[in-house]
Amino acid sequence: MNNNTNLFKINLSPDDTEINISEDETILTASLRNDIQHLHACGGLEMCSTCRVEVLSGEDNLCPKSESEQALSDKLELPSNIRLACQTKVKGNVKLKRLLLDQKDLVLANQMTKNSVGSIGSTNLLH
Ligand code: FES
Repeated sequence: MNNNTNLFKINLSPDDTEINISEDETILTASLRNDIQHLHACGGLEMCSTCRVEVLSGEDNLCPKSESEQALSDKLELPSNIRLACQTKVKGNVKLKRLLLDQKDLVLANQMTKNSVGSIGSTNLLH
C-alpha cells in the first residue's frame, strides 16, 4: 500500500466490524490483515468460492467480475450480489456479509464445489 492510495471502509458482518481497505488490495487481503477469520480454502486462486461475500450495499463500488470469477459464479449459480473476496477490489465504501464462517460451512462448500468444478485442495497462502 503506498501513501497515494485511496482508502475506503468495509462494514463487515456478521463480525460487526468496520475495516479499512485500499484500492489496490482485495477484500480477502484486507479482511485477513484485520485478523478476520475469512475462509479461503484455495488460497485465493479463484477455485473454491469459500471466500464468498454477499454485497449488502455499495455494489457499484466494486470492480466488475473478471471472466474467471463470472465463470465460477455461473457454475455455482451464485447470484450477482455474491462476490469472491479474493478477486474483488473496491473503489468506495461497501457493506458486506461473509457467508461461510466455520469448518462445517467449509465442508459443505467443498462438496458443492467438487460437484461443480472438480476437487480442490486446501492451501493457506495468504494467512
Ligand atoms: S479463496 Fe478460493 S475462490 Fe477465493
